[in-house]
Parts: sequence; structure tokens; C-alpha cells
Amino acid sequence: MKPTLLLKDMGGSSPELTISQSLRGPEPLRTISVTSGKGGVGKSNIVVNLGLALAHQGHKVLLIDGDLGLANLDILLGLTVQFTIHDVFSLRKSLSEVLLEGPAGLKVLPASSGIPELADLDGPRKIFLLDELDHYAGEIDVVLIDTGAGISRNVLFFNIAAGERIVVANNQPTSITDAYALIKVLVTRHGKKRFQLLVNGVSHSGEAESVYRTLLRVAERFLGRETTLEYLGFIPHDEAIPKAVMKQQPVLKLYPQAPASKAFTALAQRIWEVTPQGGINGNIKFFWRRLLQPSGL
Ligand SMILES: Nc1ncnc2c1ncn2[C@@H]1O[C@H](COP(=O)(O)OP(=O)(O)OP(=O)(O)O)[C@@H](O)[C@H]1O
Ligand SMILES: [Mg+2]
Repeated sequence: MKPTLLLKDMGGSSPELTISQSLRGPEPLRTISVTSGKGGVGKSNIVVNLGLALAHQGHKVLLIDGDLGLANLDILLGLTVQFTIHDVFSLRKSLSEVLLEGPAGLKVLPASSGIPELADLDGPRKIFLLDELDHYAGEIDVVLIDTGAGISRNVLFFNIAAGERIVVANNQPTSITDAYALIKVLVTRHGKKRFQLLVNGVSHSGEAESVYRTLLRVAERFLGRETTLEYLGFIPHDEAIPKAVMKQQPVLKLYPQAPASKAFTALAQRIWEVTPQGGINGNIKFFWRRLLQPSGL
């Protein structure tokens, strides 16, 4: 399996990037969106458990709840939210006042209900956010973003800003069609060409690979050969996940021996073994800048 990251995704060279790279040493920040066309395919559970698995493996992880309308990372982690990303957007709170600490030192940037548009943030708010994020340079080496489902502007914002995109689908035809629709918008309107597919909720690898082949076939036919959709693997259907959700704990924490938990651990390893092509995503401020000033939206 070949790595995914595109240097050109970062919008060309940047002096800021060069400086931050030399300050941060050889470990660049990775920003990974976990996204889907169809809702309810398992994104939030994947973000929480993959984040926890990465933290167990020694990484400094920030989870961003990018589902600004239907936030629920905090619920899945059993965290009490006092302030949210909206308080940062509206200049009421600093990032450090809003960030929560989850298990194994996970940092979580929670959202809340209501659908603010990232596009509506004005200049001073954007600058405030960028400055706030500067404090965390070096304290985070991977950002996982739960984007919410669909092709709304906020979903697209996070997917454009992320250096890597994990598209989640299950074996339902609608989930495959909707994954295709999302990929198509990101390719045709925003020039994204590389995606990784993670299949969730299937019973065996053959089923997952069949989902991958179906999506790949349509994507190749309609989007051209230069679009890369890589197969990242699958998380099995596992009743331990809804059981853990009911208890507001990650399945990996509550049932570490469950098949899904083992799959999350293996997935975290695989993601880290696959070094992004070009090797860099930039620093956290750079990520936020791409988020707040995307092209073509
Ligand atoms: N591998 C799995 N096996 C069994 N149940 C699962 C699995 N993955 C997710 N689920 C269940 O599916 C439901 C939806 O999961 P989740 O909330 O993570 O999806 P989502 O993609 O974030 O949804 P939304 O688009 O609404 O944000 C949850 O009730 C969860 O318990
Ligand atoms: Mg969700």
C-alpha cells in the first residue's frame, strides 16, 4: 500500500512551513479527516478509538469535533463540556480553556449543537484562532477530525484543510454512492486526488474488499486514473461498539480484547507505518489557515 499525502495539497511552498519544520524537527504534524457521504457509518467512533489507539502508541493526539451541527465526540468519551469551539470562534474563550483531556492524554476540541458556518468567521476571529493554535505547536503530532456527513460547506472545509482524508463507508449501496459523491466534489471542485477508504461494520475482509472494489470502479470510470483511492482496511461489525457507546466510553478502553478494538490498534499502526508521501502536512497553524481560507468555496 502506497502512502497518500500530496505536497501540492498544501498549496505550494511556505516560509512558515519551513521555519516550523526546522523547529519541530523530523516529526511533522499529520492532519487526517475522517469523513463520509452518508451519516451513521461510524466516523465518530472511529475518530475516538483510532485517536486512543494512536495515543497508546505514544502519539500526541488532538481530536477535533468538526461535526459542528451534531457534535458528539465528547459524549462518546464521557467528557463534560463547559465550552466549545464556538466560544473560541466568538473570541469568548482561549483554546486552552476549551480543550478537554480524554483518556491516555487525548486532547479534544469539542463542538456543540447549532450549525455555525466556518465561512462566516471574520478576519479578527480567524487571526485569533491562528494565534491560539500557535501555543500548541510541538504538543500535537496528529490531528483527527470528525467531519460530520455529507457535502455541506463545513464538511468540505475540513476535508480540504486536512492533509489526508479517510473516507468511511459500510456495505450499504447508499453509503458507497454517497462516498463517491463526496469524493467527486473534493476531486472536481477542490483538486483533491488522494483518498483512503476504511470500511466499517462488515463481517469479514472479503466483504470490505468488495466495497472497496465497487467504489474504486466507479471512481476510476468517472473521475479518471489520476484519482487515487487506497484501501486502508476494515473495522468489523462488533456489538461491543454500541455497548461501549451506551456507557460513553471508547470500545478500545472498555473492551480491549473485542475484535473491533484489535482492528483499531492495527489500524493505528498501519496509519503510522504509511508515512505520507512528501512527508509533511505542515504545522497546526498551517492546517488552520487552510481550514479558514480554503480555495473555491
Ligand atoms: N463496527 C461497528 N459495529 C457495530 N456497530 C457500530 C460499528 N461502528 C459504529 N457502530 C454503531 O453505529 C452507530 C453510528 O456510529 P457513529 O455515531 O460513530 O457514526 P457517524 O458516522 O459518526 O454518524 P453521524 O454521521 O451521524 O455523525 C453507533 O450507534 C455505533 O454504535
Ligand atoms: Mg458522528
